[in-house]
Amino acid sequence: MEVVICKTYEDVSRAAAQVVAETLNEKPDAVLGLATGSTPLGLYKELIRMHTEEGLDFSHVTTFNLDEYVGLPHDHPQSYYYFMWENLFKHINVPVENIHVPSGTANNYKAFCQWYEDQIDEYGGIDLQVLGIGSDGHIAFNEPSSSLMSRTRLKTLTEQTINDNARFFDKKEDVPVYSITMGVGTILDAERLILLANGEGKADAVVAAIEGPVSSMITASALQLHPDSIFFLDEPAAGKLQMRDYYDWIQKKKPGAPGT
Ligand code: F6R
Repeated sequence: MEVVICKTYEDVSRAAAQVVAETLNEKPDAVLGLATGSTPLGLYKELIRMHTEEGLDFSHVTTFNLDEYVGLPHDHPQSYYYFMWENLFKHINVPVENIHVPSGTANNYKAFCQWYEDQIDEYGGIDLQVLGIGSDGHIAFNEPSSSLMSRTRLKTLTEQTINDNARFFDKKEDVPVYSITMGVGTILDAERLILLANGEGKADAVVAAIEGPVSSMITASALQLHPDSIFFLDEPAAGKLQMRDYYDWIQKKKPGAPGT
């Protein structure tokens, strides 16, 4: 697990975009796992800039999003499909048929979840998964107590998540109670994970995920089990880390490390 502490949110976004660009340079037909929410907005802005100004090509890319609210169709302004379309997809050249966002309106959720898992397998698995972190330590919508081996499934949101996400809706009562989400196990299967976090409100969740025990109570702590995961944090999000000096030391010493 690598911890990269950046001065600002913009630096976090740029550093994460660099990893995405490197992945696409190495593998133009990479499979990207994507997140929604406030956190990756800067990353998506930077990817759009790289596409427009530097020709970063998404024409062979496939995407799988982490989660969706149950009950919201694609064209609902609060649906995650709509979010992704408005904030990334419509601005880049990823083919629409390569875009996968869990359906919030499936007839048979169990069958849909299995289909989603099978689709990820069929595309050869996710090369790079982008993650945010909830204030309760969740990744995707894997709320506290989610199995660390869970797969894509229907999940009931906690009140804390409903409260956190109420800012995007007219009123709290409009926030769906159920979601469909990749499981922790699904996420851990990705080749590489990058988790972005910014702001003081994430500091407790971040320290628990990085320096706390691996626990289903903080599903982001499962990243400790992954051989290639990177946390990109801004200063306020990193504010409670005990090993902070060591993480900075590692980054400083990285250029001289043997084999790099
Ligand atoms: C959304 C997702 C969630 C968010 C998390 C943080 O696809 O996977 O886990 O990353 O709730 O949300 P923000 O970024 O809005 O603070």
